[in-house]
Amino acid sequence: MTKKEANKKGALQPLPKVLVSCRGLDGEENVLAVAYCGNCSYDPPMVMVGIVPSRYSHKLIKESGCFVVNLVGKEYQDTFDYLGKNSKRDGDKLAFKNVQLENGKKVNAPLLKDCPVCIECTIMDSVITGSHEMFIGKIEYVHANENLIDNEGNIDFSRINFI
Ligand SMILES: Cc1cc2nc3c(=O)[nH]c(=O)nc-3n(C[C@H](O)[C@H](O)[C@H](O)COP(=O)(O)O)c2cc1C
Repeated sequence: MTKKEANKKGALQPLPKVLVSCRGLDGEENVLAVAYCGNCSYDPPMVMVGIVPSRYSHKLIKESGCFVVNLVGKEYQDTFDYLGKNSKRDGDKLAFKNVQLENGKKVNAPLLKDCPVCIECTIMDSVITGSHEMFIGKIEYVHANENLIDNEGNIDFSRINFI
């Protein structure tokens, strides 16, 4: 097949779609949809999330120094879309969608009860890459639905119907 030049923006696809949850120092909690996300170290285990500084969540993540990456199944698509299209700046979107949170075990950020895998992270560094600030998070604890993990703690990702 002959190749032609295409747009650079968003050239790398597909992207994972996750919900990142956070809590500011005054206790305010928020969740936003994130597609700029990936593994960035195996040893120590680390992930990165890219947050545009104008997002309401950006300040909360920056000041607390931590976040939770929540993997999302198709049954949560409607809530994912709402959290990705509406800002907490304009109203309590978590209450509107009845988002169920519980405290992290290791970090001061909530996790989403209705997501199958939730990854608690402490920010080790960040890089402003252009439109996004990439937060590099050391994985502190991984929660997974018990029906997804084997005796060694390995997650069977094929059983999650990702959005
Ligand atoms: C599919 C999808 C992917 C998104 N990916 C990102 C992302 O990687 N980084 C980001 O900062 N915002 C991303 N957004 C936009 C935010 O989720 C959105 O602006 C949200 O309303 C921000 O909420 P907040 O202002 O309450 O923090 C994405 C939205 C959607 C629908």
